Amino acid sequence: MIAIHDLHKAFKGHEVLKGIDLTVKKGETVVIIGPSGSGKTTFLRCINLLEFPDSGSIQIGDRALTFQPGIRHRSKEVTAFRQRTGMVFQGYNLFPHRTALENVMEGQIVVLKRPKEEAREIAMDLLRKVGLEAHADKYPHQLSGGQEQRVGIARAMAMNPDVILFDEPTSALDPELVGEVLKVMKDLANEGMTMIVVTHEMRFAREVADRVIFMDDGRIVEQGTPEDIFDCAQNQRTRQFLRRLTEA
Ligand SMILES: Nc1ncnc2c1ncn2[C@@H]1O[C@H](COP(=O)(O)OP(=O)(O)OP(=O)(O)O)[C@@H](O)[C@H]1O
Ligand SMILES: [Mg+2]
Repeated sequence: MIAIHDLHKAFKGHEVLKGIDLTVKKGETVVIIGPSGSGKTTFLRCINLLEFPDSGSIQIGDRALTFQPGIRHRSKEVTAFRQRTGMVFQGYNLFPHRTALENVMEGQIVVLKRPKEEAREIAMDLLRKVGLEAHADKYPHQLSGGQEQRVGIARAMAMNPDVILFDEPTSALDPELVGEVLKVMKDLANEGMTMIVVTHEMRFAREVADRVIFMDDGRIVEQGTPEDIFDCAQNQRTRQFLRRLTEA
């Protein structure tokens, strides 16, 4: 379903991704953990081409792109590729002057060219799914952080992506709001959505992840089931990172 091969990315000569290989099966939930600056966000941004990798290849479903320095892909190709992925960020990035419902409709109308009424129906269904039916007509500033984040998830789902990428979706939330967002993500995983999630929510990772990946210094250092990683990590750096995380 997703096959990433030897992905490299540098910023001004500073290599941030040093050859990442990752395959993700349809319906799999992969959690990525790792220290600050290890390249987790850059990796996700490369998968949906918010950043262009310097080299390597990415395949999502039946679309594949190979990257080489100096070679630019046609924008049509990039747009089509980007549509295969949905992204949910740490901050919510909702349009401030549109309601929850309009936020979930927007991309469907503009990008997928769905008729307005159909987009509205789909958006309402998705808002219902994330428990926000009653808040459809509210503007982002009238919603809690957890509610905004759930709108963000509904908005990503509305585009029918092959995979949803989450970058620390709960780390900006007050502790009491974290659970409602993780619950929506858990439901999504149980329904068979393919997800790559950067998070340090260990309980979520244990309950929901099929696989946990530890990244350090631009590389995947170790991966395995949550039990493999959390209970019997083999690599010294993984163990050290988890120890610090538990202490904090
Ligand atoms: N647009 C950019 N320009 C220059 N350097 C960047 C850019 N984006 C990221 N970096 C650098 O790349 C490295 C990896 O950053 P990245 O944000 O991917 O790490 P991360 O693992 O997501 O960290 P965190 O846990 O703090 O979110 C850092 O050294 C960062 O300063
Ligand atoms: Mg990050």
